[in-house]
Amino acid sequence: MTPPLAPAALPHSVTVDLGGRTVLVTGAAGGIGRACAVRLAAAGAKVRAVDRDAEGLEELAAQGAGLDGTVEPVVLDLTDLDAAEQAAAGTDILVNNAGLQLVRPIEEFPPEAFHTVLTVMLEAPFRLIRGALPHMYGQGWGRIVNLSSVHGLRASAFKSAYVSAKHGLEGLSKTAALEGAPHGVTSNCVNPGYVRTPLVQRQIADQAAAHGIPEEQVLTEVLLKDAALKRLVEPHEVAEAVAYLCTPQASFITGTSLALDGGWTAH
Ligand SMILES: NC(=O)c1ccc[n+]([C@@H]2O[C@H](COP(=O)([O-])OP(=O)(O)OC[C@H]3O[C@@H](n4cnc5c(N)ncnc54)[C@H](O)[C@@H]3O)[C@@H](O)[C@H]2O)c1
Repeated sequence: MTPPLAPAALPHSVTVDLGGRTVLVTGAAGGIGRACAVRLAAAGAKVRAVDRDAEGLEELAAQGAGLDGTVEPVVLDLTDLDAAEQAAAGTDILVNNAGLQLVRPIEEFPPEAFHTVLTVMLEAPFRLIRGALPHMYGQGWGRIVNLSSVHGLRASAFKSAYVSAKHGLEGLSKTAALEGAPHGVTSNCVNPGYVRTPLVQRQIADQAAAHGIPEEQVLTEVLLKDAALKRLVEPHEVAEAVAYLCTPQASFITGTSLALDGGWTAH
């Protein structure tokens, strides 16, 4: 017998239709954020693409032309927390993605860099969620997707700020899930292992210095050491997981963390 609260039957193949939905993606100028912006615009969404990198946003806007949806570039530094909160007003879907990395032992980690990482990767997401919720609650529907990391679930040496921010983001995401549930708002984390993006390319030299090994050994001996699948994840694979969390098929998924980590956290 069908349980009384069972949802209507859904098609087996997952197509993503976000026609009419407004999406805000932070860190949209490059890497995973750009892949998410393109994927969600391809699904018909009106994407507000936020980044401090104006040139990268222009490239994204050119890439977005011809997709079913639209891409609107918004140049904004997320350390301006009031502006971040205001930018999120009126969005149906919020993708908290912007991030940065610094690889140093704790005793050499500059306190001001720790502060910046926490501001961009934890406090700004809080302010963006805060800005987005009134509209989401008002219409009884919303999706929050937080780009966490395997480092939201596991630590690695020399990444104190990044690991702290991502573990904090996991807590923020779960709290938003509990508060948002009665209002039709889900909140989840997506947790990639190492993705082929500029953020990873930029840390190769720092990783080599911190671990005392040549740069050419960083990929195999540091980045892929704990993953069962010995390859980098592609940004479009991460974007697909983000898009899935916005589908009706994913409406019961909230407060969780979807690992795309090639088996890293299976250890
Ligand atoms: N690349 C990986 O291996 C990997 C793995 C797991 C999680 N992640 C997470 O995915 C997200 C995206 O990472 P990526 O690899 O695409 O990085 P990336 O460096 O390619 O892109 C990050 C974007 O964030 C923007 N940004 C940084 N600080 C900003 C600020 N103050 N204001 C506005 N924009 C700002 C940058 O300009 C850039 O466009 C990050 O949260 C990162 O922690 C990345």
